[in-house]
Amino acid sequence: MLYNQAFAAASETVTQPTRTIGISTGGGDAPGLNAVIRAVVRTATERYGWRVIGITNGFDGLIWPEQSKELKREDIRGILPRGGTIIGTTNRGNPFHYEVVEEGVTAYNDYSVACLENSKRLGLDALVVIGGDGTLAIANKFWELGVPVVGVPKTIDNDLSATDVTFGFDTALHVATEAIDRLHTTAESHNRVMVVEVMGRDAGWIALHAGIAGGAHVILIPEIPFTIENVCAAIRRREAIGRRNCVVVVAEGVRLPAADALGRPFPSTRVRSPAVLVGNAVGDATGKDVRVTILGHVQRGGSPSPFDRILATRFGVAAVEMIARGEFGHMVALHGTQMVSVPLGEAIGKSHTVDPASERVAAARAVGISFGDAP
Ligand code: F6P
Repeated sequence: MLYNQAFAAASETVTQPTRTIGISTGGGDAPGLNAVIRAVVRTATERYGWRVIGITNGFDGLIWPEQSKELKREDIRGILPRGGTIIGTTNRGNPFHYEVVEEGVTAYNDYSVACLENSKRLGLDALVVIGGDGTLAIANKFWELGVPVVGVPKTIDNDLSATDVTFGFDTALHVATEAIDRLHTTAESHNRVMVVEVMGRDAGWIALHAGIAGGAHVILIPEIPFTIENVCAAIRRREAIGRRNCVVVVAEGVRLPAADALGRPFPSTRVRSPAVLVGNAVGDATGKDVRVTILGHVQRGGSPSPFDRILATRFGVAAVEMIARGEFGHMVALHGTQMVSVPLGEAIGKSHTVDPASERVAAARAVGISFGDAP
């Protein structure tokens, strides 16, 4: 469903029966969450005259509704450029399988019925759920139980299949690219190999894009198997043309080869980060001076980029328009330049990963970037 015609037809203020809608943010945060919240509150209250309740900390505010509170104009003032989420989030709050530890014993409670009762108690006519795949899967379960849900896709990893892009990705990309730019100059001064780890648990989008944008020499992503020998070959190729510095970008979800260049098996990435393991292996095999930088959560924090603010705002407005049309059980998405809606059931469970045969990967190879898959 395209929104353009609907928007064109919509007047400034629309008279609709007063409704109360909930909004929740689940999973890891992403820059732009507050921009969605602001857009939802503004559109719902000012265009439609509805009330908006901020459900705190993922779905916790439905389990314990006393935590949740109405969001008014004054609550959203100044939040457009702010990172994080003013209503809190958690990635440990699945109400269908909620971990509780009592006297050292871990148990899992199903709070879904309590959530249904509490959403009635809060007077919710609809619920906007902003989240990644896990959170949207929970939203879909609530929809199947009869809760009128609308989803908004979020993740800095950009790995949701039903939307071309998620907000948060562009900001993370800026952070990672700037870090690579900075690493280049110090790498050059010291003739070092700089290994930088970026986020991307299942998909290499941040690594691929930041690596291309930052002019990295090697990019290692989960979608392309690599060997340390091939990474070292790329470093030596540079040395052969008198370039003794090198920047290697590693996605955190990269799959390490069975052994390093000296035949030693890699320990688990649960114990040490993949960038540290790659850095050590490259240092041992080449004798080069290697330094490792793990960007971590700086990619998730801070102010959203203009692109993310705009996308988040469009998502928030579109989510409210979906509620106005009664289009529940769907998620708002960006296809090309258009805001569209897709069934939640089709949006979840399918990871959007980098296609190794894509033109983007080919372009990276064409400008001399190695993916560690060939000497
Ligand atoms: O899914 C987004 C993400 O940023 C991943 O790239 C990363 O693995 C994960 O979140 C880290 O989440 P947390 O530290 O909050 O558990």
